[in-house]
Amino acid sequence: MKEFTSIILAAGMGTRMKSQLPKVLHKICGKELINWVIDASKKSGAKKVVAVIGHGADTVKEIIGDKCEYAIQAEQKGTGHALMQASSYVDDGYIMVLTGDAPLITPETMKNAVEYHAQSGNSATVITAILDDATGYGRIIRDKDGNVLKIVEQKDATDDEKKIKEINSGMYVFNGKDLLEALDKLTPNNAQGEYYLTDTLEILLSEGKKIGGYTVADNDEIRGINDRIQLSEAEKIMQQRIIKEHMKNGVTFILPQTSVIEDNVEIGTDTIIYPNVYIKANSKIGSNCTIGSGTQISASAISDNVTIQSSVLLECSVDEGTTVGPFAYLRPNTHVGKKARIGDFVELKNSNIGDGTKVSHLTYVGDSDVGERVNFGCGTVTVNYDGKNKYRTTIGDDCFIGCNTNLVAPVTVENGGYTAAGSTITDTVPENNLAIARARQVNKESWNDRRK
Ligand code: UD1
Ligand code: CA
Repeated sequence: MKEFTSIILAAGMGTRMKSQLPKVLHKICGKELINWVIDASKKSGAKKVVAVIGHGADTVKEIIGDKCEYAIQAEQKGTGHALMQASSYVDDGYIMVLTGDAPLITPETMKNAVEYHAQSGNSATVITAILDDATGYGRIIRDKDGNVLKIVEQKDATDDEKKIKEINSGMYVFNGKDLLEALDKLTPNNAQGEYYLTDTLEILLSEGKKIGGYTVADNDEIRGINDRIQLSEAEKIMQQRIIKEHMKNGVTFILPQTSVIEDNVEIGTDTIIYPNVYIKANSKIGSNCTIGSGTQISASAISDNVTIQSSVLLECSVDEGTTVGPFAYLRPNTHVGKKARIGDFVELKNSNIGDGTKVSHLTYVGDSDVGERVNFGCGTVTVNYDGKNKYRTTIGDDCFIGCNTNLVAPVTVENGGYTAAGSTITDTVPENNLAIARARQVNKESWNDRRK
């Protein structure tokens, strides 16, 4: 494999996004545009990745962090000028130039382009595509033998040149040393008064160096994103790639075009994803799970043989063989053990639920540690908040919490403890005790007769 450095041009403003956020920080499939390009570079074996940033540089650095090196282009004077700002990262090796707003480029294409570049003995190779509608792109000018001569920008093109369908993707492979020499010779003599990186090709050619074009097989790979429409188109393409990959790995999707699976999601074999499921980034789903319609899972770890129906799970973990929902809400820092049952209209927050425990209906468990084989009656509430502070509820193993119990925290139900239905529990329920904490029933004889 050929070694190379990736330099990602990402200093532009992205005006057409109409956004406060720098364009390259907009996301598809849960990951920033520039992050897709960084990750693809790394996967393709780039030894170093450098991003040239300018507009919103601080925000970009803050969000992307130390995943790559940075060069700053304070003023945007063109793509050539952008690359000049990263010249300290240009060595004798191969330099792959990419753009931060074209996230669909694959590691395979990068590798193939570098390979092609090396084998052809080129000084510069431009990655091209053949488009039906080439409007807006730089056109590739070739001689009658097919050799690349130069790139002409739309704004500088003659009518004949505008008819050319082969376009510049804005991605290139250069020999580092040649690139530095050519950058030195760039001038801003063009319609936009910018330093065009594209002019380096003509410069190299005039010095007797070899330049070439590498045409991608799949035009989607070079799609750039300028507005929200292109953003959603790229989302769709990336989404199809992701879901196809899961299907190849043994996951069933009943209606794949309705589900969204973001980047960095693992799903085990024989898991079935029903329509309208949304699994956000950084989640892991085990094998043999059923993920029912209307489920949203975010940054969670779901073990094997789990069934989830129409529920929302955020930053939580669910162990093997447990069922969740319909209409359960598992909030951050919740852990549910094995073969547990979390039923309808149950909300769990910052709690541990032991193996085999059942919280079947209409219950709120917050800031609680619950043992194994506990049964919650319908309508239980852990009263965890006094308006100022939050307190924990502790429930041992094999407890039985009667319907409509209030557990006023901090409070403990020891192993085998029972609470009578309708109790408001404020003190410890000792081991194997039954706590009844409600007024006794009084019957007023013939009360209704008298009322009449
Ligand atoms: C550029 C190419 C064009 C190609 C097209 C592909 C040039 C002169 N033209 O045109 O041939 O078809 O890309 O999309 O290179 N950038 C900076 N600093 C700058 C200017 C741009 O970092 O001063 C970055 C932008 O953030 C963007 C990339 O470079 O990621 C391309 O810039 P853009 O202005 O979109 O290039 P085009 O004029 O469309
Ligand atoms: Ca431009």
